[in-house]
Amino acid sequence: MNQQTYGVAFTGSGSAKLETVLTNEQMTRVVDTSDEWITTRTGIRQRHIANVTDSIRSLGGEAARQAIASAGLEPADIDLIILATSTPDDLFGSACQIQHEIGAARAVAFDITAACSGFVFSLVTAAQFIRTGAYQNIVVVGADLLSRLTDWSDRRTCVLFGDGAGAIVMQRCETGDRLLSFEMHSDGSKNDCLNAAYKHESAPLVDDITIQNGQFTPVDMNGREVYRFAVKRVPEVLEKSLFHAGISTDDVDWLILHQANQRILDAAAQRLGIPAERVVSNMANHGNTDAASIPIALDEWVRTGKIKAGDTLALSGFGAGLSWGAAILKWGQ
Ligand code: ACO
Repeated sequence: MNQQTYGVAFTGSGSAKLETVLTNEQMTRVVDTSDEWITTRTGIRQRHIANVTDSIRSLGGEAARQAIASAGLEPADIDLIILATSTPDDLFGSACQIQHEIGAARAVAFDITAACSGFVFSLVTAAQFIRTGAYQNIVVVGADLLSRLTDWSDRRTCVLFGDGAGAIVMQRCETGDRLLSFEMHSDGSKNDCLNAAYKHESAPLVDDITIQNGQFTPVDMNGREVYRFAVKRVPEVLEKSLFHAGISTDDVDWLILHQANQRILDAAAQRLGIPAERVVSNMANHGNTDAASIPIALDEWVRTGKIKAGDTLALSGFGAGLSWGAAILKWGQ
């Protein structure tokens, strides 16, 4: 058996530009809320909403194209596309649509559904294919249009979410492995704290056969329970990952958490002893974009020159499942 393993490098990033902005003031005309409540409880000031002609295919494709170009590759170089999404254009999967959209004709493509942990879980999955030597060039896309799954009459949830898409390129690397460590966890016993579940309805079909004839319901969340889960599990999983990477919080240049709530970001950073200036936050501008939130934030920090080649990044995604995970990596070729 071939025991050779290869290293992983993180070589490009991209994100889609969504023109339509929905402000907190506008939200006050949708539900009984206020800019003051949303800002102080979450840090969100506005979110971006997909236009009616946008799709996971178009926005995920835009992010993927940018990431591929910034890695100095062509779509034809890509071996694998992994799409993290909970809001596909097609329940059978949207990764193949992105593959076609960007002309990555050689690539195999599939979706991973793990809500706000989806991007970290997909990144870790991609790394396994590179380490074993199966694939060289992989695009990981995080794209979600939560506006599709939002109950716009529920003020407890609708003020939190936005739409977006981000992507990174991961490549085989001959010198060292830039994925220093990772952790992934699930706790299905708390699934009912946060879900967009299939609601069972039954209908008679023929003779004594009854079929399921329900539909998926909008996002339902026990906010306090999820908040408690996040502020406990996120620092814990990052501490473990840093330990396995053999580094300390002092070595982390940027902490990039799933952008769920500024108070969660602040609490996690405080517990880890990471100062605010090293915590990436675009909450105010985007709200919670589910699987897209980490790659969008990462791309914004790369494009504005804050994240530089060689920087150590600590990523953590958490949310529905419940699920949570972390990845410690060095950015760049
Ligand atoms: N505007 C005004 N008042 C509101 C709003 C609103 N938009 N939403 C809730 N309230 C009210 C409630 O009705 C309640 O009023 P009451 O005390 O009279 O009953 C009060 O505000 C407090 O409500 P809580 O739900 O307890 O508010 P909390 O301080 O917990 O903040 C929040 C809610 C922001 C949702 C917080 O719990 C949170 O961020 N939780 C974590 C969310 C998260 O991390 N999700 C992660 C992943 S998402 C995914 O995976 C798709």
